[in-house]
Amino acid sequence: MTAPLPDLSSIRVAVIGLGYVGLPLAATFGKHFDTLGFDINQRRVAELREHHDHTLETSREELQAAARLQVTDNPADLAGCDVFIVTVPTPIDEYKRPDLRPLESASITVGRAIGRGGVAVFESTVYPGATEEVCVPIIERESGLHFNQDFYAGYSPERINPGDREHRLETIVKVTSGSTPEAADFVDRLYGAIIHAGTHKASSIRVAEAAKVIENTQRDVNIALINELSLIFHRLGIDTHEVLEAAGTKWNFLPFKPGLVGGHCIGVDPYYLTHKAQQIGYHPDVILAGRRINDGMGSHVARRVAKLMGKRNLAAAGARVLVLGLAFKENCPDVRNTRVVDIIAELRSFNAKVDVHDPWVNADEARHEYGLELVAQPQPGDYDAVILAVAHREFVELGIDGIRKLGHDNAVLFDVKRVLPRQGVDGGL
Ligand SMILES: NC(=O)c1ccc[n+]([C@@H]2O[C@H](COP(=O)([O-])OP(=O)(O)OC[C@H]3O[C@@H](n4cnc5c(N)ncnc54)[C@H](O)[C@@H]3O)[C@@H](O)[C@H]2O)c1
Repeated sequence: MTAPLPDLSSIRVAVIGLGYVGLPLAATFGKHFDTLGFDINQRRVAELREHHDHTLETSREELQAAARLQVTDNPADLAGCDVFIVTVPTPIDEYKRPDLRPLESASITVGRAIGRGGVAVFESTVYPGATEEVCVPIIERESGLHFNQDFYAGYSPERINPGDREHRLETIVKVTSGSTPEAADFVDRLYGAIIHAGTHKASSIRVAEAAKVIENTQRDVNIALINELSLIFHRLGIDTHEVLEAAGTKWNFLPFKPGLVGGHCIGVDPYYLTHKAQQIGYHPDVILAGRRINDGMGSHVARRVAKLMGKRNLAAAGARVLVLGLAFKENCPDVRNTRVVDIIAELRSFNAKVDVHDPWVNADEARHEYGLELVAQPQPGDYDAVILAVAHREFVELGIDGIRKLGHDNAVLFDVKRVLPRQGVDGGL
């Protein structure tokens, strides 16, 4: 006989991996259900016990309001939970292949804790098939239970956007799915209990997995097209933003902007899809071309700055360049897969001396992840070029005059994000 699904009125939810995705989720579940957040990082669990979230996604008040949330770094505490929601990272390795080790290790943890009738729901971004081909067999092996008889699976991708105060977990429609029709109903009702915006029940786990990975792939390819246009228009001496402004007056022109594509989602997830495509013998041309263009934008910015300096008789070799912003996007401290490092590396390859300032980023993390010593307070008047790489609100508020003062009178100002008035800058994407 197949095991009955848990009764929603008395479930205990476990959230495995308390990062940008897992913590807001655990805090939200913790308002409605008994919830146990588990993370292997002891420091992270310790800070959460003090109601502090260094990712700034969840406030102290929100953590305190999650009255039924507890956190632990001890996997033994997971015994007795009915639903296990996995929100661990899904990065790529140095060859840009999916690195499934965190997911595999979390599946081992789930397999050792899950009992009959338990449900394992995955939220991490993966390629279609990963949940049932990779995670479920590990859970079966570790638990000795049979899939879809003793335990069930689900997949419900996360769509939150770090630093975005408007699109929050509860206000974004959540795609749900399950390994049997009954499991799919259960997963859908589970999320329906916490998501105000409603849910969309996909027909299968693979459909839900594919839906998530194409959301980010679509963005990546669209931005790549605009980046390619900006490379063309630069050569033609046309201002890309003016072109986009004009074209944007058509009702169905999509409002994408040129820029660096960093972070651990948009620049990473397409490789999960291309990996799976190649595994089944299909070479994805468009998606990989987009990746190549987007990954080249950092060095393009550095070369443009070096040329602008050359026009002012400033040699790139030995020049002092200030890069404003290291985070992968504005108003957030996240430096994972930031492509600002490509600007820095290319400038350094010209022997420029590069300082990096970012008031949002933790200096230890910048040192640990990229070997960069952040400059806490750049000295005004010191620089031959200033590159506004990330549009943090502090930089926008500093305004064109404040930013210009950081360089000497002849310094180049390059506005990657084009947030400063065009007349006051020397270049931008
Ligand atoms: N951050 C986003 O905006 C976002 C949005 C949508 C989807 N996603 C996806 O969600 C997933 C998680 O991303 P994130 O940004 O929250 O990652 P993160 O790095 O912020 O957090 C992951 C957490 O998992 C913990 N962890 C790692 N391995 C573990 C294990 N075996 N057991 C328990 N804990 C473990 C880490 O210590 C960390 O605290 C990824 O697949 C990502 O692609 C992220």
